[in-house]
Amino acid sequence: MTRAPAHQLIQLGPDDLADRLAEALHVYVTAMGYPHSTARHRRTLWLDHSRRPGWRAVGWFDSTGALLGIAYGYTGGPGQWWFEEVRRGVSAQGPEAHIWLRDYFELTELHVHPDAQGHGLGERLLRALLTLTDRPRVLLSTPEYGTEPPGRAWRLYRRTGFRDVLRNHRFTGDSRPFAVLGRELPLSPAR
Ligand SMILES: CC(C)(COP(=O)(O)OP(=O)(O)OC[C@H]1O[C@@H](n2cnc3c(N)ncnc32)[C@H](O)[C@@H]1OP(=O)(O)O)[C@@H](O)C(=O)NCCC(=O)NCCS
Repeated sequence: MTRAPAHQLIQLGPDDLADRLAEALHVYVTAMGYPHSTARHRRTLWLDHSRRPGWRAVGWFDSTGALLGIAYGYTGGPGQWWFEEVRRGVSAQGPEAHIWLRDYFELTELHVHPDAQGHGLGERLLRALLTLTDRPRVLLSTPEYGTEPPGRAWRLYRRTGFRDVLRNHRFTGDSRPFAVLGRELPLSPAR
Protein backbone atom coordinates (compact mmCIF):
# COMPACT_ATOMS: atom_id res chain seq x y z
CA MET A 1 0.00 0.00 0.00
CA THR A 2 1.30 3.46 -0.87
CA ARG A 3 1.06 6.27 1.67
CA ALA A 4 -2.59 7.01 2.33
CA PRO A 5 -4.02 10.21 0.85
CA ALA A 6 -5.59 12.77 3.18
CA HIS A 7 -8.64 11.75 5.20
CA GLN A 8 -9.51 8.66 3.28
CA LEU A 9 -11.33 5.46 3.73
CA ILE A 10 -9.34 2.72 2.01
CA GLN A 11 -9.86 -0.99 1.49
CA LEU A 12 -7.00 -2.95 3.05
CA GLY A 13 -5.58 -6.24 1.85
CA PRO A 14 -3.92 -8.82 4.09
CA ASP A 15 -0.45 -7.36 3.37
CA ASP A 16 -1.66 -3.87 4.26
CA LEU A 17 -2.94 -5.12 7.59
CA ALA A 18 0.33 -6.93 8.26
CA ASP A 19 2.26 -3.71 7.43
CA ARG A 20 0.06 -1.57 9.70
CA LEU A 21 -0.68 -4.18 12.37
CA ALA A 22 0.92 -2.35 15.31
CA GLU A 23 -1.02 0.81 14.42
CA ALA A 24 -4.29 -1.08 13.92
CA LEU A 25 -3.91 -2.85 17.25
CA HIS A 26 -3.13 0.47 18.93
CA VAL A 27 -6.45 1.85 17.62
CA TYR A 28 -8.17 -1.31 18.88
CA VAL A 29 -6.79 -1.30 22.44
CA THR A 30 -7.20 2.46 22.81
CA ALA A 31 -10.80 2.40 21.54
CA MET A 32 -11.71 -0.56 23.75
CA GLY A 33 -9.79 0.74 26.78
CA TYR A 34 -7.80 -2.48 26.99
CA PRO A 35 -4.25 -2.68 28.41
CA HIS A 36 -1.54 -2.41 25.77
CA SER A 37 -0.43 -5.97 26.51
CA THR A 38 -3.67 -7.09 24.80
CA ALA A 39 -2.28 -5.84 21.48
CA ARG A 40 0.61 -8.33 21.67
CA HIS A 41 -1.77 -11.20 22.31
CA ARG A 42 -3.96 -10.24 19.35
CA ARG A 43 -1.24 -10.05 16.70
CA THR A 44 -1.34 -13.67 15.63
CA LEU A 45 -5.13 -13.83 15.76
CA TRP A 46 -5.62 -10.79 13.51
CA LEU A 47 -3.10 -12.13 10.99
CA ASP A 48 -4.82 -15.51 11.08
CA HIS A 49 -8.18 -13.81 10.45
CA SER A 50 -6.77 -11.98 7.44
CA ARG A 51 -6.16 -15.33 5.73
CA ARG A 52 -9.73 -16.57 6.19
CA PRO A 53 -12.17 -16.88 3.27
CA GLY A 54 -14.12 -13.74 2.53
CA TRP A 55 -11.86 -11.53 4.68
CA ARG A 56 -12.45 -7.83 3.96
CA ALA A 57 -11.02 -4.81 5.76
CA VAL A 58 -11.21 -1.03 5.56
CA GLY A 59 -9.17 1.66 7.27
CA TRP A 60 -9.67 5.37 7.81
CA PHE A 61 -6.54 7.51 7.51
CA ASP A 62 -5.98 11.14 8.51
CA SER A 63 -4.10 13.75 6.46
CA THR A 64 -0.74 12.57 7.83
CA GLY A 65 -1.43 8.97 6.84
CA ALA A 66 -2.09 7.86 10.43
CA LEU A 67 -4.73 5.19 10.92
CA LEU A 68 -7.77 6.47 12.83
CA GLY A 69 -10.20 3.62 12.35
CA ILE A 70 -10.26 -0.01 11.28
CA ALA A 71 -12.96 -2.54 10.50
CA TYR A 72 -12.72 -6.10 9.25
CA GLY A 73 -14.61 -9.35 9.03
CA TYR A 74 -14.79 -12.62 7.10
CA THR A 75 -17.13 -15.40 6.10
CA GLY A 76 -18.30 -17.29 9.18
CA GLY A 77 -18.66 -21.06 9.26
CA PRO A 78 -18.42 -24.33 11.18
CA GLY A 79 -15.14 -25.02 12.93
CA GLN A 80 -14.49 -21.36 13.73
CA TRP A 81 -14.44 -20.57 17.44
CA TRP A 82 -16.99 -17.74 17.16
CA PHE A 83 -19.38 -19.77 14.99
CA GLU A 84 -19.35 -22.67 17.47
CA GLU A 85 -19.86 -20.34 20.45
CA VAL A 86 -22.83 -18.67 18.76
CA ARG A 87 -24.24 -21.99 17.57
CA ARG A 88 -24.30 -23.14 21.22
CA GLY A 89 -26.47 -20.12 22.07
CA VAL A 90 -28.64 -20.39 18.97
CA SER A 91 -29.29 -24.09 19.65
CA ALA A 92 -31.11 -23.13 22.83
CA GLN A 93 -33.54 -21.05 20.72
CA GLY A 94 -36.12 -22.10 18.14
CA PRO A 95 -35.05 -23.68 14.81
CA GLU A 96 -35.63 -20.42 12.94
CA ALA A 97 -32.70 -18.90 14.85
CA HIS A 98 -30.35 -21.23 12.94
CA ILE A 99 -31.05 -19.32 9.74
CA TRP A 100 -28.72 -16.63 11.05
CA LEU A 101 -25.78 -19.03 10.92
CA ARG A 102 -26.36 -19.98 7.30
CA ASP A 103 -23.99 -18.07 5.11
CA TYR A 104 -23.06 -14.91 7.00
CA PHE A 105 -20.30 -12.32 7.17
CA GLU A 106 -18.87 -11.97 10.67
CA LEU A 107 -18.15 -8.35 11.50
CA THR A 108 -15.19 -9.13 13.72
CA GLU A 109 -13.66 -5.75 14.56
CA LEU A 110 -14.80 -2.12 14.27
CA HIS A 111 -12.84 0.55 16.11
CA VAL A 112 -12.27 4.27 15.87
CA HIS A 113 -9.54 5.99 17.85
CA PRO A 114 -11.15 7.90 20.77
CA ASP A 115 -9.84 11.24 19.44
CA ALA A 116 -11.79 10.68 16.21
CA GLN A 117 -15.01 9.21 17.64
CA GLY A 118 -18.35 10.98 17.38
CA HIS A 119 -18.00 12.23 13.79
CA GLY A 120 -19.58 9.41 11.85
CA LEU A 121 -16.35 7.55 10.97
CA GLY A 122 -17.57 4.33 12.58
CA GLU A 123 -20.73 4.34 10.51
CA ARG A 124 -18.82 5.04 7.32
CA LEU A 125 -16.37 2.22 8.06
CA LEU A 126 -19.23 -0.15 8.82
CA ARG A 127 -21.12 0.73 5.65
CA ALA A 128 -18.02 0.54 3.46
CA LEU A 129 -17.02 -2.83 4.88
CA LEU A 130 -20.46 -4.30 4.35
CA THR A 131 -20.51 -3.29 0.68
CA LEU A 132 -17.41 -5.48 0.18
CA THR A 133 -19.08 -8.77 1.11
CA ASP A 134 -21.61 -10.64 -0.98
CA ARG A 135 -22.89 -12.72 1.96
CA PRO A 136 -26.66 -12.33 2.55
CA ARG A 137 -26.42 -11.41 6.24
CA VAL A 138 -24.00 -10.05 8.82
CA LEU A 139 -23.52 -11.02 12.45
CA LEU A 140 -21.49 -9.40 15.23
CA SER A 141 -21.08 -9.61 18.99
CA THR A 142 -20.82 -6.68 21.34
CA PRO A 143 -20.78 -6.36 25.15
CA GLU A 144 -24.17 -5.87 26.78
CA TYR A 145 -24.76 -2.38 28.16
CA GLY A 146 -26.53 -3.64 31.30
CA THR A 147 -28.15 -0.88 33.31
CA GLU A 148 -26.19 1.90 31.55
CA PRO A 149 -27.77 3.71 28.59
CA PRO A 150 -26.75 2.05 25.29
CA GLY A 151 -23.31 3.28 24.25
CA ARG A 152 -22.08 4.51 20.92
CA ALA A 153 -21.54 1.07 19.38
CA TRP A 154 -25.08 0.04 20.28
CA ARG A 155 -26.55 3.25 18.89
CA LEU A 156 -24.65 2.69 15.66
CA TYR A 157 -25.83 -0.91 15.30
CA ARG A 158 -29.46 -0.05 16.04
CA ARG A 159 -29.36 2.95 13.68
CA THR A 160 -28.14 0.66 10.90
CA GLY A 161 -30.85 -1.92 11.51
CA PHE A 162 -29.15 -4.68 13.54
CA ARG A 163 -31.59 -6.91 15.44
CA ASP A 164 -31.13 -9.22 18.42
CA VAL A 165 -29.98 -12.74 17.65
CA LEU A 166 -28.82 -13.59 21.19
CA ARG A 167 -28.85 -11.50 24.35
CA ASN A 168 -26.74 -12.04 27.46
CA HIS A 169 -24.72 -14.70 25.71
CA ARG A 170 -21.60 -15.98 27.49
CA PHE A 171 -18.57 -16.70 25.36
CA THR A 172 -16.18 -19.27 26.77
CA GLY A 173 -13.39 -17.60 28.73
CA ASP A 174 -15.11 -14.20 29.06
CA SER A 175 -17.18 -13.42 32.14
CA ARG A 176 -18.99 -10.50 30.47
CA PRO A 177 -22.44 -10.95 28.90
CA PHE A 178 -22.56 -10.26 25.15
CA ALA A 179 -25.26 -9.64 22.59
CA VAL A 180 -25.10 -11.19 19.15
CA LEU A 181 -26.75 -8.89 16.62
CA GLY A 182 -27.50 -9.42 12.96
CA ARG A 183 -29.18 -8.07 9.87
CA GLU A 184 -29.75 -8.97 6.27
CA LEU A 185 -27.55 -7.48 3.57
CA PRO A 186 -27.19 -5.32 1.65
CA LEU A 187 -27.55 -2.27 3.85
CA SER A 188 -29.54 0.55 2.31
CA PRO A 189 -27.44 3.65 1.58
CA ALA A 190 -27.13 6.22 4.38
CA ARG A 191 -29.96 8.73 4.44
C1 LIG B 1 -18.30 2.08 18.12
C2 LIG B 1 -17.43 3.01 17.28
C3 LIG B 1 -16.68 2.19 16.24
C4 LIG B 1 -18.35 4.01 16.57
O1 LIG B 1 -17.55 4.92 15.81
P1 LIG B 1 -17.84 6.50 15.88
O2 LIG B 1 -17.13 7.12 14.74
O3 LIG B 1 -17.48 6.97 17.24
O4 LIG B 1 -19.41 6.54 15.79
P2 LIG B 1 -20.51 6.87 14.67
O5 LIG B 1 -20.05 6.69 13.29
O6 LIG B 1 -21.68 6.06 15.10
O7 LIG B 1 -20.77 8.38 14.90
C5 LIG B 1 -20.91 8.83 16.21
C6 LIG B 1 -21.83 9.99 16.32
O8 LIG B 1 -21.46 11.01 15.43
C7 LIG B 1 -22.63 11.53 14.82
N1 LIG B 1 -22.26 12.05 13.50
C8 LIG B 1 -21.69 13.23 13.32
N2 LIG B 1 -21.46 13.43 12.02
C9 LIG B 1 -21.86 12.34 11.36
C10 LIG B 1 -21.88 11.95 10.00
N3 LIG B 1 -21.40 12.74 9.03
N4 LIG B 1 -22.36 10.74 9.67
C11 LIG B 1 -22.84 9.92 10.62
N5 LIG B 1 -22.84 10.24 11.95
C12 LIG B 1 -22.36 11.45 12.31
C13 LIG B 1 -23.61 10.37 14.80
O9 LIG B 1 -24.93 10.82 14.84
C14 LIG B 1 -23.26 9.59 16.04
O10 LIG B 1 -24.04 9.99 17.15
P3 LIG B 1 -24.18 9.13 18.49
O11 LIG B 1 -22.97 8.26 18.64
O12 LIG B 1 -24.25 10.15 19.55
O13 LIG B 1 -25.43 8.32 18.36
C15 LIG B 1 -16.42 3.79 18.15
O14 LIG B 1 -17.12 4.63 19.02
C16 LIG B 1 -15.47 2.91 18.90
O15 LIG B 1 -14.44 2.53 18.38
N6 LIG B 1 -15.82 2.60 20.17
C17 LIG B 1 -14.98 1.81 21.03
C18 LIG B 1 -14.77 0.44 20.48
C19 LIG B 1 -16.07 -0.32 20.26
O16 LIG B 1 -16.97 -0.28 21.09
N7 LIG B 1 -16.12 -1.02 19.13
C20 LIG B 1 -17.24 -1.87 18.81
C21 LIG B 1 -17.04 -3.14 19.57
S1 LIG B 1 -18.29 -4.28 19.18
